Amino acid sequence: MLMLHYRLWDIHDVAVLFCFMLYMCHRAEAITIQSPQRSLTQSVQEDVFFSMNVTCNGTPTIQWTFMSSTVSRAIGIWQPGAFINITADYTSRVEAHDNGSMVLSDLRLQDTGYYVVTVTDKTGGSKDAGFVLKVNEVLYEDLQYLSVSALALGCLAAILMLAIWLLDKAYTKIVAWRRRKEMPANDATELQPL
Ligand SMILES: *[C@@H]1O[C@H](CO)[C@@H](O)[C@H](O)[C@H]1NC(C)=O
Ligand SMILES: *[C@@H]1O[C@H](CO)[C@@H](O)[C@H](O)[C@H]1NC(C)=O
Repeated sequence: MLMLHYRLWDIHDVAVLFCFMLYMCHRAEAITIQSPQRSLTQSVQEDVFFSMNVTCNGTPTIQWTFMSSTVSRAIGIWQPGAFINITADYTSRVEAHDNGSMVLSDLRLQDTGYYVVTVTDKTGGSKDAGFVLKVNEVLYEDLQYLSVSALALGCLAAILMLAIWLLDKAYTKIVAWRRRKEMPANDATELQPL
C-alpha cells in the first residue's frame, strides 16, 4: 500500500515535470523568426534589407543591436503598432518593419559586423537571431573621383582658353588704339574739314 502510494507520487512528479517541460518548450517555441538570408554583402552607400518574419503570441517587441569586434550598440527597439524607438545615431538610416525586418541605408565601411535581433513576447520569453553584414568598398567611387577630376580639369582648360581669347582680343584692341594714337595728325587732318 505504501509502495503504491509512493509510486503514485512518483508518477505525479513525473507528470508535473513533463508538463513543465512541455510548457517551457511551448514558451520557447512560441516565438519563431524566419529569415531568407542571414549573411549579406553590400557596397558602401547602398542599402541593406535584413528581412525576417516574426511570429509569437501577442505583440512582439523587436530589438536590434549592432556588434563588431570593437563595439556593441543599440540600433533600435520597436513594437508593431505601438512604438518605434531608433537610437540617435541611426534615426536617419533605419526603417523599421512590422515583421521585424530592418532596412539600413547609406552603408559605410564601419557597418560591417553582426546584427542581432532579439524578439520578446508578452510573457517575457525571448529569442535571438543573428545576421552578418559585410560592406565592401566600391570601385565606382574611384571612377567617380576620376570623372570629377576630369571634369575639373576640363573646366580649368576652358577657363584658360577663355582667358587666352580675352587677352588676345584685348591685345588686338590695345594695338589698334596705339596705332590710332601714333597717327594723331592723320586723324586731325581727317577731322579738320568737318
Ligand atoms: C517583411 O516585411 C517586408 C515589408 O512589408 C517585406 O518586404 C519582407 O519580404 C517581409 N519579410 C519576410 C521574411 O516575410
Ligand atoms: C527610446 O530610447 C531612449 C534611449 O534609449 C529611452 O530613453 C526612451 O525611454 C525610449 N522610448 C521608448 C518609447 O521606448
